[in-house]
Amino acid sequence: MNNITILGIESSCDDTSAAVIRDGYLLSNVTASQQVHEEYGGVVPELASRAHQQNILPTVDAAVRRAGISLGDISAVACTLGPGLMGSLLVGVSFAKGLCVSLGCPLISVNHLQGHVLAHFIREPKNCPPAGVVEALPLSKGESPKGEGVCAERPVPEYPFLCLLVSGGNSQIVRVNSYKDMEIIGRTIDDAAGETIDKCSKFMGLGYPGGPIIDRLARQGNPKAFTFNKPHIAGFDYSFSGLKTSFLYTLRDKLADNPDFIEQNKADLAASLERTVVEVLIDKLSKAVKATGIRRVAVAGGVSANTALRQAFVARQRSGTWQTFIPPFGYTTDNAAMIAIAGYYKYQDRDFCAIETPPFSRISI
Ligand code: KG4
Repeated sequence: MNNITILGIESSCDDTSAAVIRDGYLLSNVTASQQVHEEYGGVVPELASRAHQQNILPTVDAAVRRAGISLGDISAVACTLGPGLMGSLLVGVSFAKGLCVSLGCPLISVNHLQGHVLAHFIREPKNCPPAGVVEALPLSKGESPKGEGVCAERPVPEYPFLCLLVSGGNSQIVRVNSYKDMEIIGRTIDDAAGETIDKCSKFMGLGYPGGPIIDRLARQGNPKAFTFNKPHIAGFDYSFSGLKTSFLYTLRDKLADNPDFIEQNKADLAASLERTVVEVLIDKLSKAVKATGIRRVAVAGGVSANTALRQAFVARQRSGTWQTFIPPFGYTTDNAAMIAIAGYYKYQDRDFCAIETPPFSRISI
């Protein structure tokens, strides 16, 4: 077979990203993030769509140029069709469709959540420059490259494996039987882990997104300083709303006695919150490992960038309990490389998508 060259496009939330994968190897991965949401403490859908409109053309153009290919080399365009914000999805999907029509190549629909799981299968060329694989487009002031160079050969999980998928909108345990056969065996019944961390960070008056801020603060704090409620939910499901309320009530009660409580305790609060979230995530995952007998365990999604969660995985690997798979930082948050690798597998099965297929804001794995 000739080279299979897939252009991936991701625009489901607030990152506009484009990547090129050839024969399973990443040639470029360019992401334009949107700082505009910071002052609102969360993603504003209307502003996200507008920023995608501004960023989509230069992002795709940069990905193609940095990959050293021409548009005519593209075998198919793989694009996130959902789930996500409808206005954001429409920008990437419409752009991908226009490109497919003009190039006469097929469109491949990728489920964003499956993309996160399949990020574990992205391979990088041996000679890639350390900082050259994951690059940010300098579209807005102060933007810095997301992620890191990821050249090292990483072990790829064998099927079946379990994947803890933790992001701003999802907390799920997925049984991955093949690249296209994934089954959710546990999910949050209310808030997602990332959403909980972001909201608690907001309660403390810290910036957005809270995840990286809490992570940084937690490194200087005592994880045992405070105790917050943990959920008692049957099966493999998660719940984080009680933890969020418990965190909020702790702040309320302590602030009543000491108005400087947050300022004086923010590192300990961050470390205790992080410990609780990680314990909840790992406890249920351990239960799923025991019940399924599957010891190959991966983690994916934005929260998989968290230091304590990664350390918990490393500890399980070292103790020989699990064989763990932790993605490089550049593949934890939203990126098009994961969309392109999903597209690469679908291309080999000739699993193409009709050009009139609309994006979908809600869809399960
Ligand atoms: O996967 P993602 O980029 O977007 C979706 O939600 O689809 O995940 C974003 C989430 C946010 O909640 C963010 O706060 C969280 O990932 N996050 C982190 C860290 N980096 C990002 N949470 C904890 N620790 C981090 N280092």
